[in-house]
Amino acid sequence: MPSIHSYKIITATHRTMSVKRLKQVSVSHDDDDMTQHRLEQLKHRFGLSEIMYLNTCNRVCYAFCADQVLEDGFMAQFVAAINPELTSEDVDDIVSRISLFEGEYAVMHLFEVASSIDSLVIGEREILRQLRCAYSKSQERGLTGDAFRLLMNHTVEAAKRVYTTTRIGEKPVSVVSLSVKQLLKHNPSTQSRVLIVGAGQTNVLVSKFLQKNGFKNFAVFNRSFEKAQALATTLRGAAFSLDSLVDYAHGFDILVVCTASQEAVITKEIYAQLIGSDTGKKYIIDLAVPNDVSEEAIATYDPIYIEVEGLRELAQANLAFREAEVYAAQNVLADELARFGEVYRERQIELAMRHVPSEIKAIKKHAMESVFKRDLAELDPDTLDLVTRMMSYMEKKCISIPMTAAKQAVSGKENVKSTASRKTHRRKHVEVKR
Ligand SMILES: NC(=O)c1ccc[n+]([C@@H]2O[C@H](COP(=O)([O-])OP(=O)(O)OC[C@H]3O[C@@H](n4cnc5c(N)ncnc54)[C@H](OP(=O)(O)O)[C@@H]3O)[C@@H](O)[C@H]2O)c1
Repeated sequence: MPSIHSYKIITATHRTMSVKRLKQVSVSHDDDDMTQHRLEQLKHRFGLSEIMYLNTCNRVCYAFCADQVLEDGFMAQFVAAINPELTSEDVDDIVSRISLFEGEYAVMHLFEVASSIDSLVIGEREILRQLRCAYSKSQERGLTGDAFRLLMNHTVEAAKRVYTTTRIGEKPVSVVSLSVKQLLKHNPSTQSRVLIVGAGQTNVLVSKFLQKNGFKNFAVFNRSFEKAQALATTLRGAAFSLDSLVDYAHGFDILVVCTASQEAVITKEIYAQLIGSDTGKKYIIDLAVPNDVSEEAIATYDPIYIEVEGLRELAQANLAFREAEVYAAQNVLADELARFGEVYRERQIELAMRHVPSEIKAIKKHAMESVFKRDLAELDPDTLDLVTRMMSYMEKKCISIPMTAAKQAVSGKENVKSTASRKTHRRKHVEVKR
């Protein structure tokens, strides 16, 4: 019977590798067929019964099932097979930077990845979505089967339990979401005129958050007009080049400014020109470093000014809060690991006993259609009906007896094992490195 030990995971992350190195251990290819082909090759070459592949911007992960004990040198062979262009020095360097998890350690590692305990930003649920996508893809490609179906179902359950029973995902840690949250605390009208200055990544995110929160009156200014236009299109607003900001006559209620300029883009003069004679309350989100609104403008006009430095401190404090929840999350996962052990063993019994129902059915059929055929033919209809019902009753009971007995035997024994494994995981923090 296969054991939980057959689960294995090789993981490479941003923590020990440069982005360039991470790319070297990925099999992702623009041509999806090529990615599939390379994964199939790995599966075949190393005799893996299933393989699941996860590739994010800071992690590459090969999760697989192999019943055999991995020999010394397996990691080097695997890395070389992933990327045949690597030199032996590259392979050695990579092997020293990646981790191999086996058995319960592998299961726990997958739980921790899904629950974002192992992430660059702890508590970000995005990794769970990425992991589910990776699994669906592996399934579509026919690379995974029953073992990963069972493990992934439980992994998703475990991660959801972490997100709902601990506070790991609470409190935003990105300055972008914190800035919008702070703005919303002031309850500005969703009819506000929103002026976006700069159409880089940061402002794209801020404006998406605003749009999601119901704001719809946008004007976008950017140094290159095309980028202003692209963002304005998604916001259903107007686009302008940055040069024309000085002539803009429609004012603003909320100014979102973030460019890579080293000089203040919103000087006191431009600010004065933008507001004209408008004395209404103004809100500014300025996430640029250095700030894009001049100190003079802020001092003179005293808007509600949300800027990056204060938010960074808040983001750090929130991250520390999430980190403090990791221990609670690990306790939940240790519990889930023990539960998974039982689920896994029950499934193995089900698989081993798959043939029992059909064999019992066949015995019944043989008894009624051959061995006792003549005797049954002599029975009156009522008696025949009774015998048939008794046989069906016996059939059902016979099918359930061995299954129930085996499950009881396993769960009785496993309760002891589960407690032991829980302790091990707390102490050793899951990693088996070669
Ligand atoms: N708060 C944070 O956590 C955080 C995170 C990331 C970035 N930032 C800061 O935000 C700023 C922008 O970052 P980003 O990631 O959004 O950058 P990005 O995607 O590279 O976009 C840069 C933006 O600035 C504009 N720009 C560049 N130089 C300029 C100049 N001299 N005058 C006027 N506009 C100029 C660019 O216009 P073109 O389209 O014409 O090139 C573009 O709109 C930087 O100051 C960065 O330090 C903060």
